[in-house]
Amino acid sequence: MNAIRYLCLFALLLLLSGCSSPPGQPSKSVEVLAPSEITDFRTLYADNCAGCHGAEGRGGAAIALSDPVYLAIADDASIRKVVANGVPRTSMPAFAQSSGGMLTDKQIDLITGEMRARWGRQGILDGANPPSYAAKSAGNAQHGETVYGTYCASCHGAQGQGGTKASAITNDSFLALISDQGLRTIVITGRPELGAPDWRKNAPGKPMSDQEITDVVAWLASKRVQTPGQPYAASNAQHQESSNVH
Ligand code: HEC
Ligand code: HEC
Repeated sequence: MNAIRYLCLFALLLLLSGCSSPPGQPSKSVEVLAPSEITDFRTLYADNCAGCHGAEGRGGAAIALSDPVYLAIADDASIRKVVANGVPRTSMPAFAQSSGGMLTDKQIDLITGEMRARWGRQGILDGANPPSYAAKSAGNAQHGETVYGTYCASCHGAQGQGGTKASAITNDSFLALISDQGLRTIVITGRPELGAPDWRKNAPGKPMSDQEITDVVAWLASKRVQTPGQPYAASNAQHQESSNVH
């Protein structure tokens, strides 16, 4: 009987000694950092980017940021600008406080620098004569159509309507939600995590030239429509009419 009482007392003492700080005050270790104080890349990436670009940058709805080919093509200034300001008319948000986002300039510098430090691979494009990240001209959509036939139709279908190997890319809703640079980036880097080839491997033994990339993007962009997602042009006019009645 006595033994049990002592055991209970002992257990109670153990419990009490577990709380090193006064009740109601969290100990230092569980104190939560203010969002602007976070300087751990993994936390910043997981909280802000992984939802679209995938865990560990492996790709999701948006491209794989950990693709070393992407990181070799895109320079820090371009990456930083997109993270800070977002890409208008796409789902890529602006993260800089100056653009209405939640991250400090220091945090954006950190994300940009760490992406390259962790995921970049120096020399990965040695000897590859890679195209430039940004287009050097507006491009020729008409020539782009021919380029499309040579490099893309085998997977995406004759007119980009989708084929047996890859999805529709001339669809008006798809084109409404991606920027020209977004298209260019994917044409250059592919989506390795989804089996989409980079600019060197669309056609066997025939890497695309910088000009061909620019032109095929111009052709895709020329397929954008004024009112995406509207199956019938007339339904728009009708809607307008009925709302004018009120
Ligand atoms: C809600 C979805 C979403 C979130 C969250 C998001 N992105 Fe994006 N991101 C996109 C989309 C979509 C694009 C492509 C935009 C376009 O069409 O150019 C993109 C583009 C980018 C690009 C440019 C790719 C290129 O073509 O060069 C970078 C860099 C980037 N995101 C980094 C980040 C980082 C870093 C974070 C977190 C701080 C982040 N993104 C969070 C959706 C997102
Ligand atoms: C060997 C097959 C193949 C070839 C050739 C190819 N692609 Fe793709 N492409 C894919 C696959 C696979 C995906 C990813 C899955 C999907 O979207 O169907 C993809 C994805 C894309 C996407 C992103 C689609 C999305 O929904 O996010 C674009 C844009 C694209 N390709 C453009 C092109 C262009 C332009 C060319 C020619 C220069 C090309 N592709 C050549 C297989 C190919």
